[in-house]
Amino acid sequence: MSSAAQMMRGILVVGSGAREHAILWGIARRSPQVPLYAAPGNPGMAELAQCLPLKSPQDIAAWARGKGPLLVVIGPEGPLAEGLSDLLRADGHVVVGPSREAAQLESSKAYAKKFMDRHGIPTAGWEIFYGEKDLAAHVARQSEWPLVLKQSRLAQGKGVVVAADADQALSCIAEWSADAQVYADGVIAETCLEGREVSVHILTNGSEYVWLPLAQDYKRLTEDPQSPNTGGMGAYAPVDWLSAEDREDIRIRILDPIMQAIGQEGLLYRGVLYVGIMMTDSGPSVLEFNVRMGDPETEVLIPILDIDWTHWWWELGQGRLAAPQLPQPDTAAVAVVLASEGYPRQALRGQPITITPTDDSLVFHAATRLAGGRLVADGGRVLAAVGLGRNVAQARVNSYRQVQAISFPSSCKRMDIARDAGE
Ligand code: AMP
Ligand code: GLY
Repeated sequence: MSSAAQMMRGILVVGSGAREHAILWGIARRSPQVPLYAAPGNPGMAELAQCLPLKSPQDIAAWARGKGPLLVVIGPEGPLAEGLSDLLRADGHVVVGPSREAAQLESSKAYAKKFMDRHGIPTAGWEIFYGEKDLAAHVARQSEWPLVLKQSRLAQGKGVVVAADADQALSCIAEWSADAQVYADGVIAETCLEGREVSVHILTNGSEYVWLPLAQDYKRLTEDPQSPNTGGMGAYAPVDWLSAEDREDIRIRILDPIMQAIGQEGLLYRGVLYVGIMMTDSGPSVLEFNVRMGDPETEVLIPILDIDWTHWWWELGQGRLAAPQLPQPDTAAVAVVLASEGYPRQALRGQPITITPTDDSLVFHAATRLAGGRLVADGGRVLAAVGLGRNVAQARVNSYRQVQAISFPSSCKRMDIARDAGE
């Protein structure tokens, strides 16, 4: 047993999506000799851990009290924005996840934009509006299209519209006015950046960091670039189209300045920082920060990093990096998300699902539920079918073979995930 396992009394993964299933799978792969818990978990996670019907930060903290020290890995942004990491740290648990203050890098796009401007981190030019009329007036003054409109608050990847023209912008402005809180928190109008996107994940203690392999996610619902933004319909890793020079640019212009900024502002950051970057003609520019791992990026990153995740998370939760860098992966992975019909608007629920496992693949659960012993869909993104292979092309074949072996009536999925990986 490693020294980490001798001290920790158990491991809790917070969340219920495919990302958390993958995080738990990564931990369970090396069979740590301590109890594994998930809160609230899902039927896939229930095969690896005891699922606890806890949702609020207060309920989770109350359950954990007196059981410590636990290693707690917080998957989603919601509990981080609500301060779960602070509550658990105060009780002596070892937590992977930034403080509530630092989580504002994701929970408030206004906070993130101001942070980047203060520290000279490249990002699109922006203005914020707190009223529908002011925003409509801004749209009327626009001469350059597209224009990007973003809700400042957390919106599960659905609060961003790249408006091609004034009509589209105005209909988005009107639609968002149905919820008064959207304008109370502010809507950002920003310049549209052109280029190719890449998801950069780092494990960081707020001053040092290690890169996870680069990943590519597919945010649009379909192949049509005008289709709605989603939480992510698929992903692959590693990405090999980014040159060493581009990576160095990202390090010097973005990642190192972020570390300095976190230090200067005294933010407590122990966890994963995900920087969504657009590679533009004038260099890398930050699209967004996420203060946790991406979904579905996690479903491809964890399987290709065959490391002792318990050790890495345990060290990170105490502000240390387990090694100066992560090993280079020698496999690739492709994840294809199966969503319910209607996602991202109104997803159908209750469709029966049957999964037949195929070779060189994994299936991570997201919105699934057991109803009378049967697995059924229970929301938007339902499953992630992950194929593994020596390279992305082979992993892609294996992921779609697994997709074919899942019976899930009227599911929606993209058929082009990772098709452009080698380009
Ligand atoms: P965000 O949640 O800020 O990452 O936005 C979601 C998606 O919208 C991004 O992954 C991009 O595809 C797109 N997007 C956001 N901001 C911009 C921008 N300034 N220019 C172009 N596309 C953007
Ligand atoms: N895949 C994008 C996200 O996790 O926000």
